[in-house]
Amino acid sequence: MSNVVVVGLQWGDEGKGKVVDVLSEQRTGVVRFQGGNNAGHTLVVDGRKVVLHLLPSGALRAGCVNIIGNGVVVDPRVLATELEGLQALNLALPPERLVISALASVILPVHCELDRIRSQKAIGTTGRGIGPAYEDKVSRRGVRMADLVSEARLRARLEALLPERNHVISFYGGTPVSVEETLEMYLPLGERLAPYIADATHRIHTLLAAGEHLLFEGAQGTFLDIDHGTYPFVTSSNTIAGAACAGSGVGPGVIHEVVGIVKAYTTRVGHGPFPTELHGDEGEELRQAGAEFGATTGRPRRCGWFDAALVRQAVRVNGATCMALTKLDILSGLEQIPVAVRYRGGDAFPSDLAEAEPVYEMLEGWRTDISGVRDYDDLPAACRTYVERLEELVGVPADIVSVGPEREATLVRGRLRNA
Ligand code: GDP
Ligand code: IMO
Ligand code: MG
Repeated sequence: MSNVVVVGLQWGDEGKGKVVDVLSEQRTGVVRFQGGNNAGHTLVVDGRKVVLHLLPSGALRAGCVNIIGNGVVVDPRVLATELEGLQALNLALPPERLVISALASVILPVHCELDRIRSQKAIGTTGRGIGPAYEDKVSRRGVRMADLVSEARLRARLEALLPERNHVISFYGGTPVSVEETLEMYLPLGERLAPYIADATHRIHTLLAAGEHLLFEGAQGTFLDIDHGTYPFVTSSNTIAGAACAGSGVGPGVIHEVVGIVKAYTTRVGHGPFPTELHGDEGEELRQAGAEFGATTGRPRRCGWFDAALVRQAVRVNGATCMALTKLDILSGLEQIPVAVRYRGGDAFPSDLAEAEPVYEMLEGWRTDISGVRDYDDLPAACRTYVERLEELVGVPADIVSVGPEREATLVRGRLRNA
């Protein structure tokens, strides 16, 4: 058994939620370490579809401890709603199974307003206040989860923060948010969430010391990383595997495996360069076949072919030890499948992807529906050749191959069977 980090190797929505749910069966805890409710992680369990935005994807496994680490930005309104949603499904999370780091930063209504008026159009953000919340964290004037449980502390923080933020909102013609209305909304939420707010790092280390194994669940994807992504069309956190340590409070030596989640083609939501994007009917066909509409905002996802140059770079910056190749079933029925094997020019990864010109190789498609296959060796030969060519191109094995949204539609191969 091992401690595993799961991260997206493209632009998000690779199927992280599904794979985390599968891998959490053999682990005691799942830790979210960055991002916020910009994430939308879909789980399909017993025919029921659940989309999680803030709660870790171990939420549907009885006995699994779910930890929201210090690196996450938490909108308490969304978290409370998500908890109620689970309760309605008879899947309530008691405090023994959910820990929210007292150190995690809080997304305030003022952050959502700032995001709405300033970045949503230019970057195509999710509009959830993520960027402004991280700005306030880094500028050392943010509100943290521990502050929500003390009226005096929360008031002092808001009084220091809001005048300047409201000034910016007025500059853009938005609606200022008062200290009183924020207090009125957030103090009851603080009370509601108080039983869960704790020293998450301590809980993680207690589990590790007891020999338990954990899964660190990334949100977004490598090319949305604030440093390694397609800046400025990125999110406001480090999304790569290295962030799991800072965002939860463990050293790198704790991590044994980094599982990179990779869609068998490529999608992106929001603005920014996308070398293998399909603009015409082909893109639309892929979008319809893969139901590529955002799990958070419902926006249509931009679609394109698999980009091995992109994923190769992602394998490097994450130190991915293997990949989980998802949505392979969506490619069934295509006569031929183009795969970008490199970009024209040298081997160096371009600093601006807008300049990248992909060079394609044609791989043979397969006709049969593979969504019922449960053993890798039962996949059509052309399908296995597709998987194995991608492994060769990106340099790591596809230890998980996913052929449908359900838990069961997961073919676990190689080392990961016992890891
Ligand atoms: P995440 O953000 O990485 O967790 O991914 P999303 O949940 O946003 O998007 C992935 C979508 O693909 C969800 O609707 C999943 O239910 C679905 N999905 C995941 N794996 C597979 C697969 O192998 N085949 C098919 N058809 N759907 C999948
Ligand atoms: P999961 O975890 C796909 C994108 C937004 C936008 C950019 C910045 O479900 O894979 P933000 O609101 O974070 O400031 O928006 O990042 N984005 C995602 N795209 N999946 C996600 O999460 C995303 N989270 C943010 O569309 O382009
Ligand atoms: Mg998603």
